[in-house]
Amino acid sequence: KDNIITLAIETSCDETSVSVVKNGREVLSNIISSQIEVHKKFGGVVPEIASRKHIENINSIIKNALDEARVTLDDIDNIGVTYGPGLVGALLVGISSAKALSFGKNIPLVPVNHIEGHIYANFIEHKDLEPPFTCLIVSGGHTHLVNVKDYGEYEFLGRTRDDAAGEAFDKVARALGLGYPGGPIIDNLAKIGNKDAIEFPRVYLDEDTFDFSFSGLKSAVLNYLNSSKQKGIEIVVEDVAASFQQAVIEVLVEKAIKASKKSGNHIIAIAGGVAANEGLRNLMELRGEEEGIEIKYPSKILCTDNAAMIGCVAYYNYVKGKIGDLDLNAVPNLKL
Ligand code: KG4
Ligand code: ZN
Repeated sequence: KDNIITLAIETSCDETSVSVVKNGREVLSNIISSQIEVHKKFGGVVPEIASRKHIENINSIIKNALDEARVTLDDIDNIGVTYGPGLVGALLVGISSAKALSFGKNIPLVPVNHIEGHIYANFIEHKDLEPPFTCLIVSGGHTHLVNVKDYGEYEFLGRTRDDAAGEAFDKVARALGLGYPGGPIIDNLAKIGNKDAIEFPRVYLDEDTFDFSFSGLKSAVLNYLNSSKQKGIEIVVEDVAASFQQAVIEVLVEKAIKASKKSGNHIIAIAGGVAANEGLRNLMELRGEEEGIEIKYPSKILCTDNAAMIGCVAYYNYVKGKIGDLDLNAVPNLKL
């Protein structure tokens, strides 16, 4: 068969997304329905509400994705679905929909790991990108450094020991009263703030670990805010944002550079919601140029949660024969 058409479903957190992908890397449609407005007033994602919203929306979003791609279910060769990691109730909505379509239309079901999806967003963006490369995955739930040796073959180098990078952005934004999700807001404020205004700690842990830790930095920001209030010192929000962001991205960039040297890779790809951060992208490119390492990242819409990246993984799994069956279940803490 010349062309393989994948229908992909992603419902692991607060985005209901369905995409149609051709031969893994060509996106025919990528519908993303964000629930951010609903969760905003709670300051974060409420799992029960997320599941209900997915149920309300999933059928019409599947229809929209097929229509926009100008295909019908009869054209679909495989159905990719995120089965973890994520919120169990949210994952089950996508999985149940995928199973129903798979059973009803006799289409192979392909289980997809969400973290792998973030990595593969780079394959959609960069048509000529091939492993091996080093990948820094930074999202609201994950901070991982991996050596991508081949499609589906990973060597784990490091992970966060406490908060994920995106989680740190969200928590600091909340402390500054900036709203949810905090990442993009801090990113924008950082552009007008002074990154050298406040000396926040850079947490490298031991010299030779690729692990991260962001909870100490978060506490340092909270302490700074409290003691400034007590002493009556004016808090310049954009300076706090810029100084905090700089402390996060310097550690991310230096560890990624070190990891790529260790693995002998000449490419670093960044992935996940925090890969949308302009400070991170800029510093990564600056340091990459100095070190002779090529830097790749997806466009912003492919950095945050979307089904196109899930479709890309599903394609590569499908051609390898990695197909699931109807007893597929959600795995909330699925590892890469
Ligand atoms: O990948 P994603 O959509 O969901 C997870 O799988 O977690 O990532 C969401 C996270 C949130 O923590 C959000 O604040 C962060 O990505 N984020 C950003 C930016 N855009 C989104 N963090 C920093 N700068 C940004 N521009
Ligand atoms: Zn994600």
